[in-house]
Amino acid sequence: MPAYKIHEHSFDMVVVGAGGAGLRATFGLAQKGLKTACITKVFPTRSHTVAAQGGVAAALANMGEDDWRYHFFDTVKGSDWLGDQDAIEYMCREAIPAIIELEHYGVPFSRTEDGKIYQRPFGGMTTRYGEGPPAQRTCAAADRTGHAILHTLYQQSLAHDAQFFIEYFALDLIMDANGACRGVLALDMSEGTLHLFKAQGTVLATGGYGRAYFSATSAHTCTGDGGGMVLRAGLSMQDMEFVQFHPTGIYGAGCLITEGVRGEGGILRNSNGERFMERYAPSVKDLAPRDMVSRAMTMEIREGRGVGEHKDHILLDLTHLGPEVIHEKLPGIAESARIFANVDVEKQPIPVIPTVHYNMGGIPTNYHGEVVQLKNGNPDEVVPGLYAIGEAACVSVHGANRLGSNSLLDLVVFGRAVANRAAETVKRDGKQAKLAADACDPALARLDQLRNANGGTPTAVIRDNMQRTMQADAAVFRTGETLSDGVRKMREIHASFADVKVSDRSLIWNSDLIETYELSNLLDQALVTIVSAENRTESRGAHAREDFPDRDDANWQKHTLCSVDEGGQTQIDYRPVHMYTLSDDVAVVPPKKRVY
Ligand code: FUM
Repeated sequence: MPAYKIHEHSFDMVVVGAGGAGLRATFGLAQKGLKTACITKVFPTRSHTVAAQGGVAAALANMGEDDWRYHFFDTVKGSDWLGDQDAIEYMCREAIPAIIELEHYGVPFSRTEDGKIYQRPFGGMTTRYGEGPPAQRTCAAADRTGHAILHTLYQQSLAHDAQFFIEYFALDLIMDANGACRGVLALDMSEGTLHLFKAQGTVLATGGYGRAYFSATSAHTCTGDGGGMVLRAGLSMQDMEFVQFHPTGIYGAGCLITEGVRGEGGILRNSNGERFMERYAPSVKDLAPRDMVSRAMTMEIREGRGVGEHKDHILLDLTHLGPEVIHEKLPGIAESARIFANVDVEKQPIPVIPTVHYNMGGIPTNYHGEVVQLKNGNPDEVVPGLYAIGEAACVSVHGANRLGSNSLLDLVVFGRAVANRAAETVKRDGKQAKLAADACDPALARLDQLRNANGGTPTAVIRDNMQRTMQADAAVFRTGETLSDGVRKMREIHASFADVKVSDRSLIWNSDLIETYELSNLLDQALVTIVSAENRTESRGAHAREDFPDRDDANWQKHTLCSVDEGGQTQIDYRPVHMYTLSDDVAVVPPKKRVY
């Protein structure tokens, strides 16, 4: 291996990723006086948060009755009782100050007549512990809420004293002999130089791994780079079998059409023109949670009531909403529908299909954002120096199924929580223990190996095999047969990475090399996902097994932990679900049948 020159940097905290969670953490940490770096593979305002449309949940009660306890109840129920109730209490209570804070930072929310933040209904959000009418809880900036929030957070970050390293790709975590994270090794993609970021705390805010699938609303950059680094460090990921399909991706293109469309009154129709959700969720209809709507759409298609030449999709009708609502509340999706489906939404319905959208699973953390692992019988052992937030993390506030608009909330609440935690536990300008001289060697060896990979299979071919297998075998509905077939295929595809071919040997703007790293991150997470799905012999939330159609609390109300070694051997373990709250202000919601 040639000697690679490494540029060393020392910070109190380093944040990897500059989406909503990463930016909220970055300026929060800087605001607390911690010397903070943020490294990001794309320019911050191009992070995938920019694509979030419908809004961010908080029980502000601006447009009708609401209470954060109702939000807590809905989130526990939405999670199909796999969410940790202490973390859910934290998120739903903190939602209110966190959103008011965003408003004060300058997020241009849409407004009510009397100047308050506009809020729309979203799936699974109700009042009076599920007994009252739907809640108007989702705070929106038209249908470009993520864009509005991301830009505001970046402006705040620039106003504080954080240092950005833009178009730097994080290669690997630097772990010490005691299992503590001591920082991260990154490649400056434009200069081709290597940088070691030593820090007391490393925060992974790297987003989800939607691109493990063929059709996803996620950007091509959503390759779960934090999760990949965590698995390579020998740590486990949690609840990876729970992959959310958003009911309304544009058929054929995969782009998101916000749930806000149904929040504003849009209706799903089958080939008979029937509003079929009335049969599946009689009280909330089209505003049922996403797992249920995606299953209902799939059932309609399977039973021959799909639309189009192949009867393989569904229609989303908003023609009755009128131009005013569309122009004011849903301008972005009108544009997307025109560009990607050639549809004028004022006159025609949009062809839609359930599309991979979100990973409920991720790097296990507590509600402070500290990464936890099962160690010596302790399921909540904190990994020193390592944090994870946003979609990269599994806190777990979403359990087996996330409610729409709880994702932007998760980003800001836990981005903020990490900053608060670090302010209490990390020393400002603290001395860092000396790193072992060979601390970067495993990461460098891997870089050298991938850069010179001279096998017979191009990165794009392995990626295509993985994406098609995940799409076919870890879908909305799963069976023991498709899953075991999928596991066998994914093991082969994972092993085929040993034969990867990288054509470009340089380090400067080597997109071939970066895509190969991203593929490696995706492969590990895809394998862990499908292995965890085969292992869980029940149906819960987004994990719908046709051979095990019922939820089985006695055996399966527990979090899956799954790790994978270099040879592709996976190992499964479990953590208990936190069936307790942080305070007496709200009562634990005991499991019951989940009907809407
Ligand atoms: O439908 C949407 O606007 C997506 C929101 C979310 O995933 O939270």
